[in-house]
Amino acid sequence: MTRPFDLLVRNARTLFTADGPGGGPAEQLLSPIPRGAVGIQDAHVAWIGAEGDVPRESVAASTRIVDAGDGLVTPGFVDSHTHLVWAGDRSGEFALRCAGADYLSIARAGGGIASTVRAVREASDETLISLALPRLQRLLAQGVTTAEVKSGYGLDAETELRMLRVIDLLGSRQPIRLLRTFLWPHAMPPGSTDREAFLARGQKVLREVARAGLARFADAFVEEGAFGQDELRPFLDEARALGLGLKLHVDQLRAGQGAEYAASLGALSADHLESVGPEGIAALARGRVTAVLIPTATLVLRLLRYAPGRALIDAGVGVAVATNCNPGSAPTENLALAMSLSCLQNGLTPAEVLLGVTRRGGEALGDASLGRLRVGGPADLVVLGAPHLDHLVAHVATSHVQTVVRAGRIVLRSDANARC
Ligand code: NIG
Repeated sequence: MTRPFDLLVRNARTLFTADGPGGGPAEQLLSPIPRGAVGIQDAHVAWIGAEGDVPRESVAASTRIVDAGDGLVTPGFVDSHTHLVWAGDRSGEFALRCAGADYLSIARAGGGIASTVRAVREASDETLISLALPRLQRLLAQGVTTAEVKSGYGLDAETELRMLRVIDLLGSRQPIRLLRTFLWPHAMPPGSTDREAFLARGQKVLREVARAGLARFADAFVEEGAFGQDELRPFLDEARALGLGLKLHVDQLRAGQGAEYAASLGALSADHLESVGPEGIAALARGRVTAVLIPTATLVLRLLRYAPGRALIDAGVGVAVATNCNPGSAPTENLALAMSLSCLQNGLTPAEVLLGVTRRGGEALGDASLGRLRVGGPADLVVLGAPHLDHLVAHVATSHVQTVVRAGRIVLRSDANARC
């Protein structure tokens, strides 16, 4: 006999599975089902279809009903680039930038990443956890059910390993699924100038990270003023050989053929890309590297150019959109802001943006089960109090999230976001 659903999400104006056949436009990939419904058993999607076709025997007195209120139902959002574990306060840098200072000059004067490194080294694990939990709560309120989180504010063996363990602990203390990235080449540690020795130490830590299963990905800040491509090769080659996926910060502040580099390394994603040129775009398309757009950082750093999202998509590159939540270049958990900006400034359509925070986010994390609703897949979804996709992004920087379901459990309900 069929077991009834634990949960049924119904009364959706449109349900987007984001699981349509590949190769077509965003609207096709989003695979909208008018008046769609989702049945959930345990932590997984058990049934998807039109509400009129819900099997009668699957709905029992024990089935909990989530009424979508004639709004939208989408996969849970995937925030594919964050640095959300940190201590300290860099809001002074915001004022400096408003007065005309740029990111690298602030870093050279001892601020930037190095100042967060000093604060993180001094913070206890419990402090880091208690600072990160409210950030995660704010991300959840934005509809995020999966987030990538990087280390990169320790820059010594002890603190980097500690950061990864803290991220692991955070994953068990709140509902968002957290995927860890080891980011050793983020900046030179305060007081250190021997780049070769620093990167060689990074390889040792990398082996420990891989051995202990502490991270799924490795990352590097590939940029003039951060790290060069040649010096990074041994670290990134070894990371790949150890089975970690590569995610790289490239072409953010200046054009540096970082996209071509990411493609040559078989990276999962190339992130930022404000200064990517046509060859870089073609290389990402050929290499099937997902581009992660981070317009929040473009805004906060007051960069002159936003990443060419339209050209990337037109060239066939899969484009994800992320918050980059961090204390310097993007001190925000506001995914809705990133979504609106990626239309206004990166040239994406509302459908492409929804794809960017769902299926493309999953692809940027090398996991095709994330950011999609499909039978047998994780029951991570969001109910949005918006009548259509235009509304979602046009109401700028506003969360429309009413209900978040993660692994089949209702983990957030917000009356504050009744149809706005
Ligand atoms: O993704 N670009 C390098 N890393 C971060 C900034 C981190 C920071 O400033 O603390 C980014 O923008």
